[in-house]
Amino acid sequence: MNKKIAMINGSLRKGSFNQTILEYIKSGLEAKGYEVTQLDISKLPLMNQDIEFPAPESVSAIREEVKKSVALWIVTPEYNGSVPAPLKNVLDWISRPVDPDVPGAPDFVNGKLVAISGAAGRSGASLVLAELKGLLQRMAMKPLEHTAGISLPMEAYETGKLILSDEHKKLFDEQINKFIEALNN
Ligand SMILES: Cc1cc2nc3c(=O)[nH]c(=O)nc-3n(C[C@H](O)[C@H](O)[C@H](O)COP(=O)(O)O)c2cc1C
Repeated sequence: MNKKIAMINGSLRKGSFNQTILEYIKSGLEAKGYEVTQLDISKLPLMNQDIEFPAPESVSAIREEVKKSVALWIVTPEYNGSVPAPLKNVLDWISRPVDPDVPGAPDFVNGKLVAISGAAGRSGASLVLAELKGLLQRMAMKPLEHTAGISLPMEAYETGKLILSDEHKKLFDEQINKFIEALNN
Protein backbone atom coordinates (compact mmCIF):
# COMPACT_ATOMS: atom_id res chain seq x y z
CA MET A 1 0.00 0.00 0.00
CA ASN A 2 1.20 3.52 -0.86
CA LYS A 3 2.40 5.21 2.34
CA LYS A 4 3.57 8.51 0.83
CA ILE A 5 2.08 11.74 2.16
CA ALA A 6 2.86 15.22 0.78
CA MET A 7 2.67 18.11 3.23
CA ILE A 8 2.35 21.83 2.46
CA ASN A 9 2.89 24.81 4.75
CA GLY A 10 0.84 27.84 3.65
CA SER A 11 3.43 30.13 5.27
CA LEU A 12 6.79 30.89 3.64
CA ARG A 13 8.07 32.61 6.80
CA LYS A 14 11.42 31.30 8.14
CA GLY A 15 10.21 31.16 11.76
CA SER A 16 6.73 29.92 10.82
CA PHE A 17 4.65 28.67 13.77
CA ASN A 18 2.73 26.51 11.31
CA GLN A 19 6.03 24.82 10.44
CA THR A 20 6.30 23.69 14.09
CA ILE A 21 2.86 22.10 13.75
CA LEU A 22 3.74 20.58 10.38
CA GLU A 23 6.82 18.96 11.90
CA TYR A 24 4.83 17.62 14.85
CA ILE A 25 2.29 16.02 12.49
CA LYS A 26 5.07 14.76 10.18
CA SER A 27 6.72 12.96 13.11
CA GLY A 28 3.37 11.48 14.14
CA LEU A 29 2.74 10.16 10.64
CA GLU A 30 6.27 8.79 10.35
CA ALA A 31 5.84 6.99 13.67
CA LYS A 32 2.85 5.24 12.07
CA GLY A 33 4.93 4.12 9.09
CA TYR A 34 4.14 6.87 6.57
CA GLU A 35 6.76 8.47 4.36
CA VAL A 36 6.32 12.24 4.44
CA THR A 37 7.67 14.85 2.02
CA GLN A 38 7.16 18.58 2.44
CA LEU A 39 6.53 20.33 -0.87
CA ASP A 40 8.60 23.45 -1.59
CA ILE A 41 6.01 25.94 -2.83
CA SER A 42 8.33 28.95 -2.51
CA LYS A 43 9.78 28.59 -6.04
CA LEU A 44 6.46 28.36 -7.89
CA PRO A 45 5.68 31.19 -10.30
CA LEU A 46 2.34 32.88 -9.83
CA MET A 47 -0.41 31.12 -11.77
CA ASN A 48 -0.55 32.57 -15.26
CA GLN A 49 -2.33 30.81 -18.11
CA ASP A 50 0.27 32.16 -20.55
CA ILE A 51 2.97 29.91 -19.02
CA GLU A 52 0.96 26.74 -18.37
CA PHE A 53 2.14 24.68 -21.37
CA PRO A 54 4.81 23.45 -21.11
CA ALA A 55 4.60 23.65 -17.34
CA PRO A 56 7.46 25.39 -15.49
CA GLU A 57 9.89 22.88 -13.94
CA SER A 58 8.91 23.81 -10.37
CA VAL A 59 5.26 23.06 -11.20
CA SER A 60 6.12 19.68 -12.76
CA ALA A 61 8.18 18.79 -9.67
CA ILE A 62 5.22 19.53 -7.35
CA ARG A 63 2.82 17.60 -9.61
CA GLU A 64 5.18 14.62 -9.52
CA GLU A 65 5.18 14.62 -5.70
CA VAL A 66 1.38 14.94 -5.58
CA LYS A 67 1.09 12.08 -8.06
CA LYS A 68 3.33 9.81 -5.95
CA SER A 69 1.42 10.58 -2.74
CA VAL A 70 -1.70 8.87 -1.52
CA ALA A 71 -2.87 12.04 0.27
CA LEU A 72 -1.95 15.64 1.08
CA TRP A 73 -1.76 17.44 4.41
CA ILE A 74 -1.96 21.24 4.52
CA VAL A 75 -0.95 23.29 7.59
CA THR A 76 -1.62 26.98 7.19
CA PRO A 77 -1.98 30.41 8.76
CA GLU A 78 -4.95 32.63 8.04
CA TYR A 79 -4.38 35.81 6.04
CA ASN A 80 -7.21 38.33 6.36
CA GLY A 81 -9.56 35.54 7.28
CA SER A 82 -8.66 33.62 4.14
CA VAL A 83 -6.18 31.39 2.29
CA PRO A 84 -2.57 32.76 2.08
CA ALA A 85 -1.57 33.53 -1.53
CA PRO A 86 1.31 30.98 -1.74
CA LEU A 87 -1.09 28.20 -0.76
CA LYS A 88 -3.85 29.34 -3.14
CA ASN A 89 -1.20 29.50 -5.87
CA VAL A 90 -0.10 25.86 -5.51
CA LEU A 91 -3.72 24.70 -5.34
CA ASP A 92 -4.52 26.68 -8.50
CA TRP A 93 -1.55 25.07 -10.27
CA ILE A 94 -2.50 21.50 -9.37
CA SER A 95 -6.16 22.14 -10.27
CA ARG A 96 -5.17 22.68 -13.91
CA PRO A 97 -4.71 20.21 -16.78
CA VAL A 98 -1.26 18.74 -17.43
CA ASP A 99 -2.10 18.27 -21.10
CA PRO A 100 -3.79 21.14 -22.98
CA ASP A 101 -5.90 18.58 -24.90
CA VAL A 102 -7.23 16.91 -21.75
CA PRO A 103 -9.41 19.39 -19.83
CA GLY A 104 -9.86 19.40 -16.07
CA ALA A 105 -7.64 18.50 -13.16
CA PRO A 106 -5.44 15.41 -13.61
CA ASP A 107 -6.58 12.02 -12.24
CA PHE A 108 -3.94 12.15 -9.50
CA VAL A 109 -5.66 15.24 -8.03
CA ASN A 110 -9.32 14.26 -8.40
CA GLY A 111 -10.68 12.61 -5.26
CA LYS A 112 -7.37 12.85 -3.36
CA LEU A 113 -7.70 13.03 0.44
CA VAL A 114 -6.44 16.29 2.00
CA ALA A 115 -6.14 16.94 5.74
CA ILE A 116 -6.17 20.59 6.81
CA SER A 117 -4.76 22.12 10.00
CA GLY A 118 -3.65 25.57 11.01
CA ALA A 119 -2.63 28.15 13.56
CA ALA A 120 -3.77 31.76 13.69
CA GLY A 121 -4.89 34.39 16.17
CA ARG A 122 -8.18 34.46 18.00
CA SER A 123 -10.09 32.65 15.21
CA GLY A 124 -8.02 29.50 15.80
CA ALA A 125 -7.72 29.37 12.00
CA SER A 126 -11.43 28.50 11.76
CA LEU A 127 -12.03 30.90 8.85
CA VAL A 128 -9.22 29.61 6.67
CA LEU A 129 -10.00 25.97 7.47
CA ALA A 130 -13.67 26.44 6.47
CA GLU A 131 -12.69 28.27 3.31
CA LEU A 132 -10.13 25.63 2.36
CA LYS A 133 -12.69 22.88 2.81
CA GLY A 134 -15.00 24.56 0.28
CA LEU A 135 -12.14 25.30 -2.10
CA LEU A 136 -10.87 21.70 -2.06
CA GLN A 137 -14.39 20.39 -2.63
CA ARG A 138 -14.78 22.68 -5.65
CA MET A 139 -11.45 21.26 -6.91
CA ALA A 140 -12.99 17.75 -6.62
CA MET A 141 -10.47 16.84 -3.92
CA LYS A 142 -11.56 15.14 -0.71
CA PRO A 143 -10.98 17.30 2.39
CA LEU A 144 -10.87 15.33 5.63
CA GLU A 145 -13.99 16.26 7.61
CA HIS A 146 -12.01 16.49 10.86
CA THR A 147 -9.95 19.72 10.79
CA ALA A 148 -7.68 21.01 13.59
CA GLY A 149 -6.86 24.64 14.29
CA ILE A 150 -5.26 26.38 17.25
CA SER A 151 -5.11 29.95 18.52
CA LEU A 152 -1.49 30.99 18.86
CA PRO A 153 -0.54 31.59 22.51
CA MET A 154 0.76 35.06 23.40
CA GLU A 155 4.17 33.56 24.34
CA ALA A 156 4.64 32.42 20.74
CA TYR A 157 4.38 36.01 19.52
CA GLU A 158 6.60 37.23 22.38
CA THR A 159 9.36 34.65 21.97
CA GLY A 160 9.03 33.89 18.25
CA LYS A 161 8.73 30.20 19.12
CA LEU A 162 5.65 28.02 19.33
CA ILE A 163 5.72 25.40 22.06
CA LEU A 164 2.85 23.00 21.57
CA SER A 165 0.91 22.26 24.76
CA ASP A 166 -0.39 18.79 25.60
CA GLU A 167 -3.84 20.02 24.55
CA HIS A 168 -2.52 21.11 21.14
CA LYS A 169 -0.73 17.79 20.69
CA LYS A 170 -3.90 15.88 21.58
CA LEU A 171 -5.82 17.83 18.92
CA PHE A 172 -3.30 16.94 16.19
CA ASP A 173 -2.94 13.33 17.41
CA GLU A 174 -6.72 12.93 17.07
CA GLN A 175 -6.59 14.36 13.57
CA ILE A 176 -3.80 11.93 12.63
CA ASN A 177 -5.99 9.04 13.80
CA LYS A 178 -8.99 10.31 11.77
CA PHE A 179 -6.74 10.75 8.73
CA ILE A 180 -5.43 7.19 8.95
CA GLU A 181 -8.99 5.91 9.40
CA ALA A 182 -10.06 7.78 6.24
CA LEU A 183 -7.05 6.44 4.31
CA ASN A 184 -7.93 2.90 5.27
CA ASN A 185 -11.60 3.19 4.30
C1 LIG B 1 -1.18 39.38 5.24
C2 LIG B 1 -1.46 38.83 6.61
C3 LIG B 1 -2.75 38.75 7.05
C4 LIG B 1 -3.04 38.19 8.31
N1 LIG B 1 -4.34 38.02 8.66
C5 LIG B 1 -4.62 37.33 9.79
C6 LIG B 1 -5.96 36.95 10.09
O1 LIG B 1 -6.89 37.24 9.36
N2 LIG B 1 -6.19 36.25 11.21
C7 LIG B 1 -5.17 35.87 12.04
O2 LIG B 1 -5.43 35.22 13.04
N3 LIG B 1 -3.90 36.21 11.79
C8 LIG B 1 -3.60 36.92 10.68
N4 LIG B 1 -2.30 37.21 10.38
C9 LIG B 1 -1.25 36.87 11.33
C10 LIG B 1 -0.74 35.46 11.12
O3 LIG B 1 -1.73 34.52 11.45
C11 LIG B 1 0.46 35.23 12.02
O4 LIG B 1 1.47 36.11 11.60
C12 LIG B 1 0.96 33.81 11.99
O5 LIG B 1 2.02 33.71 12.87
C13 LIG B 1 1.40 33.42 10.61
O6 LIG B 1 1.73 32.07 10.59
P1 LIG B 1 3.24 31.54 10.55
O7 LIG B 1 3.82 31.82 11.91
O8 LIG B 1 3.12 30.10 10.27
O9 LIG B 1 3.95 32.32 9.48
C14 LIG B 1 -1.99 37.79 9.15
C15 LIG B 1 -0.67 37.90 8.70
C16 LIG B 1 -0.40 38.40 7.45
C17 LIG B 1 1.03 38.46 6.96
